[in-house]
Amino acid sequence: VSLELSRYPLNTWYVIASSNEVRAALGSCNVLDRKIALYRKRNGEIAALDDRCSHRAMSLTLGSVVDDAVVCAYHGFTFGSDGRCLRVPSQENVPYGADVRSYRVFEDGPFVWLWPGERAQAEQLRPPKLPWLQQPGWTTFGGVDVVAANYLLLHENALDRAHFPFVHSDTSHAGYLTQPPPLQVEVTETTVSYARSFPPGPLTTWQAAATGLAMNGHYVQRERGEFVSPGLHIDVMEIEAPVGSVTAPLHEDNFRTVFVRGFTPLREDSTLVTWRVARNYALEDRSVTQGLRFIHETSMAEDKPFLEDIQANRSAGDDRIDIDAAADSAALRAQQIVARMLLEERGSFRPRPKSRQQQVRKASPVAR
Ligand code: FES
Ligand SMILES: [Fe+2]
Repeated sequence: VSLELSRYPLNTWYVIASSNEVRAALGSCNVLDRKIALYRKRNGEIAALDDRCSHRAMSLTLGSVVDDAVVCAYHGFTFGSDGRCLRVPSQENVPYGADVRSYRVFEDGPFVWLWPGERAQAEQLRPPKLPWLQQPGWTTFGGVDVVAANYLLLHENALDRAHFPFVHSDTSHAGYLTQPPPLQVEVTETTVSYARSFPPGPLTTWQAAATGLAMNGHYVQRERGEFVSPGLHIDVMEIEAPVGSVTAPLHEDNFRTVFVRGFTPLREDSTLVTWRVARNYALEDRSVTQGLRFIHETSMAEDKPFLEDIQANRSAGDDRIDIDAAADSAALRAQQIVARMLLEERGSFRPRPKSRQQQVRKASPVAR
C-alpha cells in the first residue's frame, strides 16, 4: 500500500456499528476520521449527525433527544434528524449556517452502514446484500475488533492466501500446506475475487468437529472470496458433503461457512473490523458456534501483529516500494480499484457510466 493510497474513498458504504448498538438515546461513534452522533428515531430509523454543535464545538452526544430532535446541552440549539437547526432558545430566529451535517445511514440485518461522501450519490445506491446474515437456514455469530493498520492492509491480508502456511499453520487444512492449487482471480470494474478448489483431502480437527464428518475421510474443499467494496470483504469456505451424509445441511448440498468482514477506517492507520460468520450446518449446535468462534478469533489474532508491524514501519516513514509476488495479484487489483475511486473523488477522472455497479443492491457473486 503506497502512501498515496492510505486515504480511503468517501463515496461508498462503511459498516459503522451493529444494529443493536443504536438506541433511542444518543450514542457516539468515532469512525472515518470524524465524530458522529447516532440515535434511533421513534419510527425506528437511525439518524446520524456530526457530533459537534454549530454554536460552539460542544459534542451533541452530551445533549439529549426530544421528539426525534437533538438538543445541545450547552445552550439548547436544537437540530432535526436531517441536521437542520430548528430552534435557538435565546432568540426568535435561527442564524444562517447553523445546520449541522447529517449522514445517510442504511440499516440492513445486523449492520448499520454509513455513506461519508456526497449525499446525492448515496440516494440511489444501497450497501451490498448479505443474505446469509438474515435468512433462515443460517446461523451467525460475530464480533468487532480494531486493528492498528490501514484498511487496505486488511483487504490485502484477506485476499492473500499465501500467508496461511506461515501464519495459520495450526488451523489450515492439509491442502494449504502441500502444493495448493493456484487461485483463480476474477476482476470486474469494482470487485476482485479469488477462487480455488482443493483436491480431495483430509479435514483438520476443527472442520471435522464442526461438520460431524469423519476425520479419516477425503473431501473436496473450495474457497472463494471477494473484495466487494472498500468497506467489505467476504470469504466462503465450502466442504463437499459425501453422498448420503447424515450431517449434511438440509437445503444445500455442501457445508458452507461464510466469513463477512466490514473494514471501516477509523483513521488512516487504524481500522474497525465488524465481522460475522454464518454457516448452513449444525444450526442449533452451540458447541459448533464456540469452536468456529475460537478458530476465527484465533486467525484474526494471528494476523493482527503482522498488520500492525507493517503499519508501524510504514508510519515511521519507511515507504520504500514493495516488491510484489505473483500471489499478490488479487490484492493489487483491489488497490487499483481503490486508486480509481480516489481519483474519481478528486474529480480528475471521468467515470464510465457503469463504474458504480458494485453499489447496486445485488447478491455478491460469492453467493452464487
Ligand atoms: S454549544 Fe451547542 S448550543 Fe451552545
Ligand atoms: Fe490471515
